[in-house]
Amino acid sequence: MKTEVAGAPGRGANLRAEAGQEEAAPGTEPAEQADGLAWQEEEDGRAALILTFALRGVGQAGLSEAAKVFETLEAGIQHFETRRAENAAGELQCFVKCEVPSSDVSVLLNALRRVAEDVKTSREERVPWFPKKIRDLDKCHQLITKYEPDLDHDHPGYTDPEYRKRRAFFTDLAFNYKEGDPLPRVEYTAQETATWREVYRKLSSLYPTHACKQYLDAFQQLETCCGYQEDSIPQLQDVSRFLKERTGFQLRPAAGLLSPRDFLASLAFRVFQSTQYIRHSSSPMHSPEPDCCHELLGHVPMLADKEFAQFSQDIGLASLGSSDVEIERLATLYWFTIEFGLCKQNGSIKAYGAGLLSSYGELVYALSNKPEHRPFDPELTAVHPYQDQTFQPVYFVAENFEDAKAKLQKYALKIKKPFSLRYNPFTCSIEVLNTRQKIKNTLSQMKEELKNLCFALEKMS
Ligand SMILES: [Fe+2]
Repeated sequence: MKTEVAGAPGRGANLRAEAGQEEAAPGTEPAEQADGLAWQEEEDGRAALILTFALRGVGQAGLSEAAKVFETLEAGIQHFETRRAENAAGELQCFVKCEVPSSDVSVLLNALRRVAEDVKTSREERVPWFPKKIRDLDKCHQLITKYEPDLDHDHPGYTDPEYRKRRAFFTDLAFNYKEGDPLPRVEYTAQETATWREVYRKLSSLYPTHACKQYLDAFQQLETCCGYQEDSIPQLQDVSRFLKERTGFQLRPAAGLLSPRDFLASLAFRVFQSTQYIRHSSSPMHSPEPDCCHELLGHVPMLADKEFAQFSQDIGLASLGSSDVEIERLATLYWFTIEFGLCKQNGSIKAYGAGLLSSYGELVYALSNKPEHRPFDPELTAVHPYQDQTFQPVYFVAENFEDAKAKLQKYALKIKKPFSLRYNPFTCSIEVLNTRQKIKNTLSQMKEELKNLCFALEKMS
């Protein structure tokens, strides 16, 4: 049996072949090179190397011989630096950054050892590509298609050609969308609206007793200001505007279940990739994949909460440039929090996860005494086996969002990366803090902001 609603970014398999395989968007190359990092562009058979070696007592001729080695193997030299050693007469110390075909690495090293001494090398640490500008999200739409109606024999719409045709329409909407375009408005059919009505009625009857306070507050606002009601499916554009005014989050259309890397990356920009189609009418209480009921009823209300929005962005920021292993762990953290998270509130346990708040059966089950409740601990939660075919046997309970956010930030700091990142809300871009100057510039901006705040405090007193 599958869960009634399987949301979340796609799990496990199909972590993207890094986006560098795609043609880079115009204007992105200089910025990436300026970061001074070697991006893991593709399996192109070339190795990036950092080499140091010494040339002793051979003068200019030794340097020429060393250069000849690189020239013969057609190494792409990115940096070649020499300096005279202070305490060894005649010794020249060399530092080289280059790229060679992987098959030539040992040939290069052997040839170099014949003309130089103390040859040392390390493969340059490579960083998976990640979006740095919000428009780079146009490249983050890798789908996991195993639950789609065209491929999944168990999908309720598999044998319905009309439904599959409708889904193709929504897929085109999502794939044609580019950052900055208005979000597509959809005229939903009477049948689609009827499905929404059934889901809305059933779930909203459960929220007052099962949903957390933050969810209930936002849901009420959505009903008052954003057209949330059982007789019409809210438009992404209206909902996105609502979220943008509250937490800066915005929506963009997604064609289906996305790869964890792409989905999490969008969160770093406070962008939530949302499906726009609705589940098959024959199965209003069950969908094997995310749909607009899951997004609009499960995710959207929580994204209107400031603490939760920051928590979501923090997971996204932690994912940028992380290894596949770390992405899997972060996706698991996402699964047990943003999708299936519970929290303590006024002495009882309430739901805040979208997978629960969009699934009547699992919402009831999760808050019963049947499953196990464990305290949220990112180190343990990130490696806990997840279940995407039935209800979770274990749910993780947060003390509160502030505590969950602090624990997540501590966890994220332990992820090994050769740089730190910062989201710049003015330019909606990610800054790679890998030089002292960049950090100084950022500090100087912060000082200005602090000065403003201090001035505001003084004025009040
Ligand atoms: Fe989801």
